[in-house]
Amino acid sequence: MARLLIIDDDPDITEILDLYGDFLGYEADVAPGWQEAGKHLAGKRFYSAVFCDLTLQGTNGLQIFEKISGLDPRLAGRFVLLTGAVMDEGVERQIKAKKIRLVKKPFNFEDIKAALQSMEGPVDTRSLILQSAKLPAVPLVAAKILALIGQENTTIEDLKDAIMADSSLTTRILQMANSVFFRFRQNVDTISDAVSVLGFNTIRSVTLAVSTRDIYRPFGLLEEKLWEHNLGVSLASGAIAAEIRSGREEAAIAGLLHDTGKLVMNSNQPERYLFLAQSVQEEKVPFHTVETEVFGFGHAEVGSLLGEKWGFPDILSGAILYHHSWKSFDKAVQGDVRELCLIVALADALCTRLGIGYKSPMPELDLGEKELQRLLKIDDGRYGEIASKFKETFLNEKMHFM
Ligand SMILES: [Fe+2]
Ligand SMILES: [Fe+2]
Repeated sequence: MARLLIIDDDPDITEILDLYGDFLGYEADVAPGWQEAGKHLAGKRFYSAVFCDLTLQGTNGLQIFEKISGLDPRLAGRFVLLTGAVMDEGVERQIKAKKIRLVKKPFNFEDIKAALQSMEGPVDTRSLILQSAKLPAVPLVAAKILALIGQENTTIEDLKDAIMADSSLTTRILQMANSVFFRFRQNVDTISDAVSVLGFNTIRSVTLAVSTRDIYRPFGLLEEKLWEHNLGVSLASGAIAAEIRSGREEAAIAGLLHDTGKLVMNSNQPERYLFLAQSVQEEKVPFHTVETEVFGFGHAEVGSLLGEKWGFPDILSGAILYHHSWKSFDKAVQGDVRELCLIVALADALCTRLGIGYKSPMPELDLGEKELQRLLKIDDGRYGEIASKFKETFLNEKMHFM
């Protein structure tokens, strides 16, 4: 739910603002002064608007405006100053110069509604992310490989040279080519083999997938868990896809990339994200719910924007974007994207229940496993078999990759 921060030492004012906000669909945090407001802001929630009185004990609304814009520049455009009818000329000049929104007391419901509506409408997730998250660039070698794959006359030899220029990428591609995702094919010993056996399109996806590992900096316990979760979901997605005769490799890659947004958010704001991950574990609430509360957006949106920047195939970006909102598919999501997305969502629900990528199993955190199983038409018997086989294979695969 969208939130407001109200800073005023007059309880009558905060009460009425809280009430108006409630009526307009906002939840409010109230603070009588800067100290308490600072605590709310340190709780790292995203506020749709901040209402602040001009005259406060020991400080004033203009100083608070400066502090808040320093803490989170997005809030400068979401700040509303509440003032008395008569104002000092100097103060009025400053407010104008800084283009701060103003609501004069006594105000009514319409004044508050208009102030909220003037703030770029509802929060536009895309621009919010672009304003506040730094999306990493495709690593250089990967960019070169992707460019080569995009050219018509590229040969296996060209691609091999480009891949082998990076020894860690070479190792990771070989590892992936020989992992259980592709093991139903022949053994792959060299990069030339990998390219000819897997084909250009798969090499492209594998390159993208292994390159996301470079986003994990620094590589600590949380990063390890996030990586483990992606691996698990990848493996489970492949198994589920095989069961319903859908593209197994594509599903494995989508699984590996489905939570890449978490890595970006984590590398942007490691302390905030660690705190968030702890509350997911302790309070048993899904990541995307806590993220939206804290950042104003979730990892699925960040991941799909990264996909746009890195040139993921559309089907992949689509599956990433909707993997937590599959219940509200709209007309934009149909056919293959829908199926891939449901596969990844089911694999995600399974891994979460089993605690893969978490400290312990999370049966309380139901991501809609039963419903997804039904939508994909997998009966209980078959699903039980897939799940228990997956648990076994995962332990083996984990050793290779961790
Ligand atoms: Fe996710
Ligand atoms: Fe996930």
